[in-house]
Amino acid sequence: MTKSAIIGVSGGRARSLAEAYRHVTRGRLVSVSSRRRDKLEEFGAAFDVPARHTDYREMFEQEKPDLVHVNTPPSVRLEIFEAAEEAGVPGVLVEKPLAIQGEDYLAIQAFSRSARVKIAVNHQLHFHPRRNMLQRQVRDGAIGNLRFIEASAGMNLAYQGTHALQAISAFNPDAVPIDVFGQVSGAEGLQETPRHHYAPDQCTAAISYDNGLSALLRCGGLAPRVVDGPVNVHKRIAVYGDKGFLHWTMHGWESRIDGKYACGVHAYAEEDILGQAAMTEAMIDWIEDDGAIHPLNIGSALSDFGVILGIYESALNREVVRLPSKPPPGLVEKLRNALS
Ligand SMILES: NC(=O)c1ccc[n+]([C@@H]2O[C@H](COP(=O)([O-])OP(=O)(O)OC[C@H]3O[C@@H](n4cnc5c(N)ncnc54)[C@H](OP(=O)(O)O)[C@@H]3O)[C@@H](O)[C@H]2O)c1
Repeated sequence: MTKSAIIGVSGGRARSLAEAYRHVTRGRLVSVSSRRRDKLEEFGAAFDVPARHTDYREMFEQEKPDLVHVNTPPSVRLEIFEAAEEAGVPGVLVEKPLAIQGEDYLAIQAFSRSARVKIAVNHQLHFHPRRNMLQRQVRDGAIGNLRFIEASAGMNLAYQGTHALQAISAFNPDAVPIDVFGQVSGAEGLQETPRHHYAPDQCTAAISYDNGLSALLRCGGLAPRVVDGPVNVHKRIAVYGDKGFLHWTMHGWESRIDGKYACGVHAYAEEDILGQAAMTEAMIDWIEDDGAIHPLNIGSALSDFGVILGIYESALNREVVRLPSKPPPGLVEKLRNALS
């Protein structure tokens, strides 16, 4: 049985991570860490987690977890990866976004080149049962040769943009982004906050891939609203091929394939908990078998994050950015200055 741990249980997200263990058959949540003793005890009691630590390094040493969920802000990524590597932790599932800007992105990229610890990024939508089924249909050729992908999210690039980019990769696997042309606006999301999720309020970007496909990404205020509701419920993706199209939103799906229209609905919360569990099981597969590489592995997440940095560079310099590009320093500060 895989021994799992969560770092950072005083916020909202940790509850979803723990709840998913109801559906994980080969893993158990055995330890948690938080610097806040009150939150630690409250969370540990709510989810019946026996080992509770105020220091994650001490937790690594004493509990020897097999799989660690890193549920901290993006300002606290590399230090945990390095501590996990040093402690011999086999696997880490880290929350999105993987990084903030170029400096930490490059440091994480350098670390990942020689790290033994297996790291994947928590883009659980890839494993939602409905999304997964649609991804399989596209992979099996249901809509023919891919022509175009259009993805959007109601929140900014740091909060939801990485989900949208990962969705594009999920429907267009193995393709490599080769250039990006982006525009951004709005500096509210660039203000200093403890969450460190910095991004312009809106962005639109055209991304080209090495298989000839192009994708349109829209995040924030200008992204289509798919239902009445708050900003966080509008993630969606539409995939067009020469035989038809598929369209997924957080609340339903539709397709027209060979002239035949079909549609349906789903409950996001139900999809999400099953997706989170299936993603965790896939991590256990990878921990047990080096060949069972997780589809959300850090390499693919770094490639997606490179697109985000390319969007920033493109918007600041008003030019198409060829990928991969070495991100210039201080991108968040430069965006703050340009957009405030
Ligand atoms: N995949 C999804 O669908 C999804 C959905 C929602 C959120 N998220 C992501 O999940 C992450 C966490 O979200 P949240 O809402 O739970 O955030 P939050 O309320 O900011 O909580 C973050 C946790 O990070 C811990 N932390 C902060 N600085 C730390 C440090 N220096 N060392 C150790 N721990 C530290 C806090 O620890 P203490 O407990 O020690 O105070 C807290 O428990 C974010 O990256 C967010 O984008 C993902």
